[in-house]
Amino acid sequence: MNVLLTGGLGYIGSHTAVVLSHLGNQITLYDNLSNSTEIVAKNIEKICGQKINFVKGDVRNTETLKHVLTSFKIDSVIHFAGSKSVAESVKEPIEYYDNNVQSTISLLCAMRLAQVKSLVFSSSATVYGDPLYLPFDEQHPTNPISPYGRSKLHIEEMLADVAASDSEWCIACLRYFNPVGAHDSGLIGENPKGIPSNLMPYIAQVASGLREVLNVFGNDYPTRDGTGVRDYVHVMDIADGHAAALTYLRKHPSWQSINLGTGQGYSVLEIIDAFEVASGKSIPFRVVPRRAGDIAEFYSSTIIAQRELKWKASRDLINMCASTWKFQTQLTKS
Ligand code: NAD
Ligand code: UD1
Repeated sequence: MNVLLTGGLGYIGSHTAVVLSHLGNQITLYDNLSNSTEIVAKNIEKICGQKINFVKGDVRNTETLKHVLTSFKIDSVIHFAGSKSVAESVKEPIEYYDNNVQSTISLLCAMRLAQVKSLVFSSSATVYGDPLYLPFDEQHPTNPISPYGRSKLHIEEMLADVAASDSEWCIACLRYFNPVGAHDSGLIGENPKGIPSNLMPYIAQVASGLREVLNVFGNDYPTRDGTGVRDYVHVMDIADGHAAALTYLRKHPSWQSINLGTGQGYSVLEIIDAFEVASGKSIPFRVVPRRAGDIAEFYSSTIIAQRELKWKASRDLINMCASTWKFQTQLTKS
């Protein structure tokens, strides 16, 4: 299959590119490099042992996208490109709606022009908002609390309308929980610009000595040790989930939202312990007040992903930490 990955040089896109290439697909990566570099393309090629197609471009450029879709004879698109910081979205909502919602409209227009009607979209567990019950299943009401989360929900709703208007469209919205970890080679991984806002990359930078101490945001939550609990899922499992979604879409036209998580939550202190074991480093931390907008605990129901996609996460927490550490040490060396 010929697959276009928008945002294909980003964290999740690059890992998915490796998985799809290993499965024999012809992949084309389309990225404006706003949060990545061309080195990632070289590293994907190293891992895959073959040349891959990379086109530098912005998803909001409908004409270029249409040209790429037709000239590479694309069968399916996976749409990773977008902006993903919750805090930034509160400060810059217009930019977020532009780069998430507007860019998806541009992609849909290009796909319609090129007659490509199979799409996997990167959504997020953040669409659920505060849990009314756990685990979050796909029927849980959606009530996102940030512009970022609302942009993801608007896109999901838009995609549902598109699928309802024309039975040839096949669309899957994958709601990721907390993707972490890196490819076993240590060549690709999550490399945030500036101070990491997410837990795992922050811990990795503390372990490598780039940062002095981890701030633990609150230890007075109603959880087993008072710190926040999340469903961390290995990025290679997430990548496998995309391959499963493409297979699923070939047999199931229409629209579906599906969670990608493990079903298991870990607290901040449990992540620190696991990272210390995996890296052999100690992680100094201090408890500071809660971060505004944080939820005490959430994790995924895995029933729909198992039943529809035949997908189940298989990599454990130590693997998530060890691969993150391997990537971090290679980054620090280079
Ligand atoms: P990322 O920032 O690493 O990757 C996104 C890529 O898209 C980057 O390479 C960036 O340069 C590119 N890009 C951004 N805007 C673009 C545009 N207008 N045109 C072309 N390229 C553009 O992010 P990621 O962690 O790989 O996330 C991928 C997707 O998954 C995003 O849509 C994100 O919202 C979603 N998501 C991520 C997480 C997570 O924890 N990483 C969780 C839930 C959902
Ligand atoms: C954040 C985003 C969410 C996104 C997800 C995965 C917010 C409110 N939500 O979720 O939309 O889908 O990342 O990218 O930003 N923590 C610390 N110290 C730190 C960093 C985090 O204690 O330096 C704690 C947090 O309080 C939380 C846990 O670690 O309990 C995980 O945090 P994080 O990695 O930022 O993910 P989420 O908050 O789940």
